[in-house]
Amino acid sequence: VREPDLAGRHVVISAGGTREPLDPVRFLGNRSSGKQGYALARTAAARGARVTLIAANTGLPDPAGVDVVPVGTAVHLREEVLKAATDADAVVMAAAVADFRPAAYASGKIKKKDGKEPDPIVLVRNPDILAELSADRARPGQVVVGFAAETDDVLANGRAKLRRKGCDLLVVNEVGERRTFGSEENEAIVLAADGGETPVPHGPKEALAEIVWDLVTARLT
Ligand code: C5P
Repeated sequence: VREPDLAGRHVVISAGGTREPLDPVRFLGNRSSGKQGYALARTAAARGARVTLIAANTGLPDPAGVDVVPVGTAVHLREEVLKAATDADAVVMAAAVADFRPAAYASGKIKKKDGKEPDPIVLVRNPDILAELSADRARPGQVVVGFAAETDDVLANGRAKLRRKGCDLLVVNEVGERRTFGSEENEAIVLAADGGETPVPHGPKEALAEIVWDLVTARLT
């Protein structure tokens, strides 16, 4: 049995993928299942933490003993993460947040017009929540963790992203057609701002979650 090394700590985890609506029936979304974020929530709770899970469109059952806050869009996710993070010891951004959202929302269903080309979809940038959390820590010593899915030059791109985002740890996954999304397993390398590099062999998402918490607890003050 593991030590309850997160007892007395509050951790905030985002999971799933945001959906950016175009009209009442359509959205721009992504393939994130939320499983890694839920594994993080379950393992943190088992290690004694108070856990707030900000869940974006996951459709997964609420883990026992975890506060689940459902959200839809990136803007909504940002609002709830920032609120929960005010007294958090650690924030883990496992959610796939849309980088862009449609500039306009049509309050009625968009119709095809006979004989006419469709209107282009104009996008605007969403706030980068991880960069914002990292730059303005809600409390001193708060540990901020990001996730990155990369298809090529995984290490170099991961290092650059870690620096750009300003977080303490970045879990870098190599993704491709058949990897990671929706699967029960994961393979990753965890990069640390202090130079550390922790390879995580292919295995259950729980095993990766435990390694993330090991690295987080080592950084908590
Ligand atoms: O830049 P990229 O989307 O690859 O970064 C991924 C990491 O940044 C994830 O931890 C994700 O939750 C976070 N992110 C964010 N806000 C965005 C886009 C990504 O917090 N708008």
